[in-house]
Amino acid sequence: MHPIQDKWDGIYGKASANGRPEPALVLKQYDYLLPGQGRALDLACGLGGNALFLAERGLSTTAWDLSAVAIARLRQVAADDQLDLVCEVRDLEKEPMPQSSFDVVVVSRFLDRNMNRSLAAALRPGGLLYFQTFVADKDPAIGPVNSAYLLRENELASTFEDLILRAYCEAGQTGDRARGFRNEALLVGQKPLNAVEQDDVEKR
Ligand SMILES: C[S@@+](CC[C@H](N)C(=O)[O-])C[C@H]1O[C@@H](n2cnc3c(N)ncnc32)[C@H](O)[C@@H]1O
Repeated sequence: MHPIQDKWDGIYGKASANGRPEPALVLKQYDYLLPGQGRALDLACGLGGNALFLAERGLSTTAWDLSAVAIARLRQVAADDQLDLVCEVRDLEKEPMPQSSFDVVVVSRFLDRNMNRSLAAALRPGGLLYFQTFVADKDPAIGPVNSAYLLRENELASTFEDLILRAYCEAGQTGDRARGFRNEALLVGQKPLNAVEQDDVEKR
């Protein structure tokens, strides 16, 4: 068992069963960029606010998380609402992402820098990555304290520089801090239609 599975199972076990989990702002705000059909992935989905949103939009959706509690709850909601949503307990550190498999990948409030390269590789040409998570330059009372889980300035943009930027926001502490999207950065990036797959590079 992954060392942090217990922690997340405990958190989700205590979470209220009332109400539906919300999708991340990056997905709500830029939902008009989504394709009308295709395969979507909610990575480290938790209770699956993003996955439910994507499946309700008609995308054939997969949701992965290492918390068996979260996945069981999400699976039940998907079954009750007859959604096209496959939910799986999966340790993302152990099981590699399949390449060129998804039209949409969503990552919210999860950061594993070792995985970022495979995220872009998991997109099909023309596919979209929606990414939103906490930055180091934030209100210390909000989000994680461990810097391993916090984005540095411009890190999100530079990490996914091979994607075409369709949306980006990282306000930091600039200007009127009572306004705007703060404490997190968000990105929507699109894989170029002519992107060269990693597999192809390695075969050369
Ligand atoms: C802060 S929560 C975010 C959940 C959801 N994406 C959201 O925005 O509400 C981080 C999630 O990452 C999951 N997680 C952490 N490490 C993981 C791993 N190695 N494999 C799969 N899931 C992991 C946890 O179980 C937890 O549900």
